[in-house]
Amino acid sequence: MNSNRLRSLPHLLLALFLTFAGAHKVAAQGASSSAEVKKEGVTPGATAGATAATAVAPPAAPGGGDAAAIAAGDALFKANCAQCHAVNEQVVGPALGGITKRRPISWIIPWIKNSSKVVASGDAYAVELYNKFNKQQMPSFALSDKEITSIVAWVTSQEGAPGAIAKGGPTDGNAAATDGKTDAGGAEAGAGKYVDILLIVLVVVLIVLVVTLVIIGNLMKDVLRGRKDLDGRDIEILEQRFDWGKLYRSPVMRGIVGTVFALVLLYEGVQSVMAVGLTQGYQPTQPIAFSHKLHAGEHQINCAYCHTSVYKSKSANIPSANICMNCHSQIKTESPEIKKIYRAIERKQPIQWVRIHNLPDLAYFNHSQHTQVGGLQCQTCHGPIQNMEVVYQYSALTMGWCINCHREMPLNTKDNKYYDNLVKLHDTKNAGAPFTVSSNGGTECSKCHY
Ligand code: HEC
Ligand code: HEC
Ligand code: HEC
Ligand code: HEC
Ligand code: HEC
Ligand code: HEC
Repeated sequence: MNSNRLRSLPHLLLALFLTFAGAHKVAAQGASSSAEVKKEGVTPGATAGATAATAVAPPAAPGGGDAAAIAAGDALFKANCAQCHAVNEQVVGPALGGITKRRPISWIIPWIKNSSKVVASGDAYAVELYNKFNKQQMPSFALSDKEITSIVAWVTSQEGAPGAIAKGGPTDGNAAATDGKTDAGGAEAGAGKYVDILLIVLVVVLIVLVVTLVIIGNLMKDVLRGRKDLDGRDIEILEQRFDWGKLYRSPVMRGIVGTVFALVLLYEGVQSVMAVGLTQGYQPTQPIAFSHKLHAGEHQINCAYCHTSVYKSKSANIPSANICMNCHSQIKTESPEIKKIYRAIERKQPIQWVRIHNLPDLAYFNHSQHTQVGGLQCQTCHGPIQNMEVVYQYSALTMGWCINCHREMPLNTKDNKYYDNLVKLHDTKNAGAPFTVSSNGGTECSKCHY
């Protein structure tokens, strides 16, 4: 009877361990998603969240303050919207911060589902916005109302200034909004903190339990040792010690350790093979400390002023030193960095810029096709260049990256007679589906491979 109780001790420990491991996994997921935000660097929400955390009055959490909805909105935003939108700054589309104050949710939902329909309906706000953004069409999204509400809830939680969702929206009106889980730093951070506290409490409880159990175990052993009526088997169990050597020799244990080791090796191997030739994030130091943030951002010099051929030809050129001299024959002439430009000109040698973006020769990519014909903004592919002190490769530049966009991006066919018959044919065959680049053959191998 007593021996049974002693044996159940490891089971109890195992159960505790599993609870602990489960909680840890949840926390790790939270941590990795916030690490992603940091890594992306261009997500202003990361800093906005931090400043909001120091704000005095916590705003009522939007969408009923449901931390799960906000986390879902975060993921949906990253997957669908982040390439064109940020919360507090304009990327390709407008900054989405404050959207619930500009537009009611009853406008936002149909807009995201099919913005061109809203524009076509003659909605004054939509038409003005569309024209302001050079008639660039936002793609349609097959998202549910709930998914869109959660994206909006996430956006609202990331806004620099506190604000609540517009009244009358289809929020679930959950009064739990004010509970302690949602602090000013956004409900996601709140949830993360909550899990952290839970974890610490669990660890403490676990330690206390282990210590208590060891003490009880020893006490019971002492009591049992004092008894005279034990037979040989009972004594054997009582004096049993944990045998590490036996565990080490056990083939089952060796099998488990070996398998885990092999799986880790395999995973690392696959990861490094997949990364061959991938240079996303590549950010070499340039010979002159030229800043896009200063030139294209603060001084708003048009991209094409320097990259003169980007709307006209296959490649976007890097400006020659002469273009720099248009200004720097007058501006900052004493700066050591600017003197490097003079030296290059005196020596009649081009500045040795380090190339960042570079597709392999087997692929054909044409800038004018995308910027002039397709009407895409540079930032769609190159990210927020106007904020980069030093340029880095923002997109993966893999084949999958090209193809994904071609599958989703609607072709700009408006007022283009060339496409009229094609669009008609497409619409009769698959009514409703947008006429994308791939509907026009943009995923055929020969379009991109010589
Ligand atoms: C390919 C780029 C692109 C993607 C992806 C994209 N948008 Fe947009 N969005 C735009 C552009 C451009 C506009 C400006 C209006 C126009 O030109 O049609 C816009 C406008 C908006 C507006 C109106 C903003 C205002 O200030 O009134 C909202 C809301 C919006 N987008 C939400 C979203 C959401 C949510 C997603 C993701 C599900 C998304 N967008 C994905 C490009 C994009
Ligand atoms: C005043 C001139 C100037 C302006 C304006 C300018 N650039 Fe540049 N750009 C350069 C120079 C010089 C380089 C090469 C050095 C470097 O990478 O920083 C460069 C490099 C780049 C690269 C990386 C090229 C590579 O090696 O792969 C990209 C992408 C780019 N610019 C995009 C833009 C975009 C987008 C804009 C507008 C928002 C812009 N540039 C505005 C001068 C300019
Ligand atoms: C249209 C005008 C214009 C052109 C073209 C231009 N710049 Fe500039 N550049 C500026 C202005 C304005 C400043 C800021 C000066 C200041 O801070 O007082 C600046 C600042 C700089 C600085 C910082 C200097 C320092 O020491 O603070 C560097 C480096 C620089 N430019 C390099 C270049 C290079 C390289 C090119 C050519 C690829 C170039 N610029 C083309 C206008 C221009
Ligand atoms: C559809 C995506 C896309 C758009 C939009 C785009 N680029 Fe690029 N850009 C690329 C790719 C891909 C490369 C690499 C090309 C290569 O290696 O052949 C590149 C390369 C560059 C380079 C390096 C020189 C070169 O041509 O290889 C510069 C500079 C540049 N882009 C500037 C711009 C500017 C400025 C704009 C906006 C006017 C712009 N890009 C718009 C995808 C794009
Ligand atoms: C952000 C979206 C986007 C990305 C990323 C993109 N493209 Fe495109 N691409 C377009 C659009 C939009 C068009 C259609 C332009 C038009 O003709 O109106 C297009 C057209 C093309 C065409 C002409 C297709 C035809 O039917 O004639 C080629 C070739 C092409 N892209 C190659 C590439 C390659 C190679 C890459 C990757 C290095 C790439 N694209 C990445 C949006 C994209
Ligand atoms: C929209 C443009 C586009 C289309 C369409 C396309 N590719 Fe590619 N492909 C690329 C680009 C860009 C690369 C280079 C990617 C890289 O360096 O990772 C590439 C690389 C490749 C590679 C070399 C892979 C490597 O790692 O070196 C092969 C093989 C290939 N493509 C086959 C195909 C086949 C087969 C098709 C038709 C089913 C096709 N591609 C259609 C853009 C395209």
